[in-house]
Amino acid sequence: MKTRVTELLGIRYPIIQGGMMWVGTAEMAAAVSNAGGLGTLTALTQPTPGALSAEIERCGAMTQRPFAVNLTILPTAKPPPYEAYLDAALAAGVRIIETAGNSPRAFIDKIKRAGGVIVHKCTTVRHALSAQRNGVDIVSIDGFECAGHPGEDDVPGLVLIPRAVRSLEIPVVASGGIGDGRGMAAALALGAEGVNMGTRFCATVEAPIHQRIKKALVRGTERDTQLIFRTLNNTARVFKNAIADEVVATERRPGGCEFKDIHPLVAGARGKVALAQGEINGGIITAGQVIGLIDDIPTCEVLVERIVAECRTQLKSALKRFED
Ligand SMILES: Cc1cc2nc3c(=O)[nH]c(=O)nc-3n(C[C@H](O)[C@H](O)[C@H](O)COP(=O)(O)O)c2cc1C
Repeated sequence: MKTRVTELLGIRYPIIQGGMMWVGTAEMAAAVSNAGGLGTLTALTQPTPGALSAEIERCGAMTQRPFAVNLTILPTAKPPPYEAYLDAALAAGVRIIETAGNSPRAFIDKIKRAGGVIVHKCTTVRHALSAQRNGVDIVSIDGFECAGHPGEDDVPGLVLIPRAVRSLEIPVVASGGIGDGRGMAAALALGAEGVNMGTRFCATVEAPIHQRIKKALVRGTERDTQLIFRTLNNTARVFKNAIADEVVATERRPGGCEFKDIHPLVAGARGKVALAQGEINGGIITAGQVIGLIDDIPTCEVLVERIVAECRTQLKSALKRFED
């Protein structure tokens, strides 16, 4: 399984675990990297750049393979010290940076000077083209199915991936809605050179999430996600629970709502506690429609090997049907 993505990232299989708030810890990232994919630590899950340095050291002690750091650049009133997080990652020897949320332009020179590779994750072809112009190495493109922020254009992967592949010269990684070898085979057939998964990796032994949440992901169907923040033009796809329903009901109130009206419901700290303590209705839990394809809670190694084997089988049998 050689693609430009495996070559640029120095990994065995073109399978990436995307940055995940509260989930992208050393245990998660090391397990994915040890399984032959690319694990990713989420910078902002750590309270300070110093804590990120320590987490990178912990991860490095658990794997000899490359892993990445995700820097999610969100437009907020009080931005975290993004550059200090990036400096901590580069100083600790991390060479693969996944950027998301906003243009990575301000950070590209610094990453390149350190000999780094930038995977920029975005949700539109125009943002992907801008990232390519700015010098990123790989674009991860998130279809509307994805967990987290799918953007406001609502274009699913089946259209978005080939659109991105047609338009870009740099390699494209397909993200959103992928959870098995069929999805990976489809992504490769559409021209992607790798896949990025979030939700599927949450339902693994190593994900630092309470077992009750993992089981809820297994039970959930493709209809069990909810789009929140639509009215605020900052759509997020999350697990459909009592909190997500309440957010949507508040947004639909006559006259709409402002962020401050829903802030107490969606506070990150609440989501963190829900994940850690297994309170399904305790806060916002990010998840994508791919939960409809999740039936078990394997180790990352079993999951990655299974996806790769299934992907090969699917590609071969599709070709065979075509040749016959
Ligand atoms: C629990 C969870 C937290 C996430 N947090 C982030 C984040 O902080 N930054 C980010 O860029 N993407 C985040 N994502 C999105 C993933 O990196 C990935 O793009 C997405 O999950 C792909 O869609 P999928 O879940 O259908 O595989 C998160 C996803 C999940 C499931």
